[in-house]
Amino acid sequence: MSTERNENTNRNTGSAAARRKKRELARRRRRRQYIVMAVLGIAIVALAVVLVFMIKKGQTTAPAPDTQTQAQEQTETDTKESTVTPAEPTKKEPETIELTELQMHTGDLILVNGTYPYDFAANAETVNLVTIDSAKSVDYTVAKAEMQLSAPTIPVLDQMITDCNAALGVNDTGVTSAYRTKEYQQSVYDEYVESQGEDYAKAYVATPGYSEHHTGLAMDMGIYYEGGGEGSFSESENAVWFSENSYKYGFVRRYQEDKTAITKINNEAWHFRYVGIPHATYMTQQNLCLEEYIDYLRSNATKDNPLHVDCQDKSYDIYFTTETTIEKPQGNYEISGNNVDGYIITVEAA
Ligand code: DAL
Ligand code: ZN
Repeated sequence: MSTERNENTNRNTGSAAARRKKRELARRRRRRQYIVMAVLGIAIVALAVVLVFMIKKGQTTAPAPDTQTQAQEQTETDTKESTVTPAEPTKKEPETIELTELQMHTGDLILVNGTYPYDFAANAETVNLVTIDSAKSVDYTVAKAEMQLSAPTIPVLDQMITDCNAALGVNDTGVTSAYRTKEYQQSVYDEYVESQGEDYAKAYVATPGYSEHHTGLAMDMGIYYEGGGEGSFSESENAVWFSENSYKYGFVRRYQEDKTAITKINNEAWHFRYVGIPHATYMTQQNLCLEEYIDYLRSNATKDNPLHVDCQDKSYDIYFTTETTIEKPQGNYEISGNNVDGYIITVEAA
């Protein structure tokens, strides 16, 4: 019995221990599962917290100024690229013209007088002297067959003589003197000294090298009767017509009674000088001799505030500059030196 009891006891004791052990194992397993699940839960919650924090930070933190600008620029660039907006055209630099020292002494507006000599070397290549007799297209008398003028002057002179003769109903307007070399001017001066004396010569004949006749832009008018013989231009009605109308052709009566103190040359009704229509128009309207006009432009006519001249259905802007690099004007323009200290730019309005 006791053995059996012991066996039963042992059997009962053994199975209880096994159950305990089993329960213990199950308990441990559950505890591990809890731990794993708890760790996982904490990790998920932590991850979620980090994510939320990062998202919030991205929304609320303002980028640094540079970053902001870059971001903005990038956005703008992206927009431009996405809408295929053409790139801004690069601003074109204005065309310029270089003016030389020689150019200061050439052109229709050069001042040649007792102070400012004619620069033969500067003009040698630009002035195209032609014989009046062979170049003129209308019939009038030229004192000597070899007399020359600057080529562009001749058609204007032709028209002026034609219109004068037509207006007066005559056919006697001619040319007594035109281009002169320095040597020829010397011979004219010497003749006057011999026939009229030195004071008279100085009053009417420029010192050789200082005469407008060197330019090919000046001539003396005369009266040549159809039946032969010469008249006095100064006393003719032609002189009055020329004095009143030559500006329309671009010529000015260069030596006038009321300007002798400035020009240092006596009144000459016969001597005309080409300067160009807008200049001759303004000089005549304002009663300015060339010395005064050159001074007026220097003091009053700048690129930004030019002299404006309306004439013959055209408009001109005229300015003086000492700059040797100028902006190329739009449309028709002319550049002349003043033979003193700068350049005169004449721009025809389109
Ligand atoms: N008669 C003008 C002044 C000259 O000789 O040039
Ligand atoms: Zn003359």
